[in-house]
Amino acid sequence: MFVDLKKSVELILAQKLVAVPTETVYGLAGDATSDEACELIYQVKNRPKFNPLIIHVSSLVEAEKYAIFNDDAKKIALELWPGPLTLVLPKKNSNISDVATAGLDTIAIRVPSHEIIQNLILKSGKPLAAPSANISSRISPTSAEHVNKSFNGEIAIIDDGKTIYGIESTIIDCTGTPTLLRHGFITEDVITDIISHQVIVASSIAKINAPGMLKKHYSPLCPIRINADSINHDEVVINFGDSGLIGTESLNLSESGDLIEAAANLYSILQEAEDLVLSNNLAGIAVARIPNHQIGLAINDKLERASA
Ligand code: TXA
Ligand code: MG
Repeated sequence: MFVDLKKSVELILAQKLVAVPTETVYGLAGDATSDEACELIYQVKNRPKFNPLIIHVSSLVEAEKYAIFNDDAKKIALELWPGPLTLVLPKKNSNISDVATAGLDTIAIRVPSHEIIQNLILKSGKPLAAPSANISSRISPTSAEHVNKSFNGEIAIIDDGKTIYGIESTIIDCTGTPTLLRHGFITEDVITDIISHQVIVASSIAKINAPGMLKKHYSPLCPIRINADSINHDEVVINFGDSGLIGTESLNLSESGDLIEAAANLYSILQEAEDLVLSNNLAGIAVARIPNHQIGLAINDKLERASA
């Protein structure tokens, strides 16, 4: 069901949910100060209650009402907000629902740059809790069609076409030495440049501080193999650049081998490949090797979880 901004504001103020575009992926937004709205988010997504939500606010000044910023956090926020970056910080005593933060004494917060979610925050006057608008553990949505498919058309959506970055925000934990918890468009070296010292990268096995960094995530409803060098005859292949693998159907994340384009296309191509496998009764998806540097790190991290 498609809605406009005015209707969305009404829904937020009535403790209901709206799927809304951001620069990364579509979010399933609710009033972060309402236990009822936050409960509904977990319920609709079938999300485990221990996995806290990201709080979206309009500016750094607003964020400072809810979180304590040390010097590093302040530098990063001043440089990269609004944009595809989330900071995990000590939580201030505020009206943010404990349901949203899963009872932790930290809070994940970001200032999105997308005009529509910014307007929804400003017009409703509420901080918004917004996880990706997909059923928990499935592929994240980069278009309104993906959201509709996930929730059988039962969620109100503001449609703004395809999102720009196509993968979720980078998450940096700044409660101690800055630690990269989730790879994204903003890479480790960008953060290192801003704070002038090293960032710890949480190993994909440890991830202790990110309750939601579940091993299985972003998954299609069919088998998926990654780092493929050859293809079985009954697979749909996802190529990158000139990898040139030929399957029953062959898709490409970026013909020109551009990692930024590949990230933007990742979830929509995974959705398309899943549809092809399921509708043609094929064995599964095989993905060619993706270079493991820069945004390739984020792409490979998502693909590893998709195939877990
Ligand atoms: O790009 C994005 O960040 C999108 C758009 C909609 O803004 N949102 C998003 O939310 O990706 P979600 O819920 O899919 O991912 C939130 C991640 C989870 O892995 C969760 O565990 C982590 O943030 N997180 C939330 N609060 C945390 C906290 N206090 N400490 C550590 N990790 C936290
Ligand atoms: Mg998600």
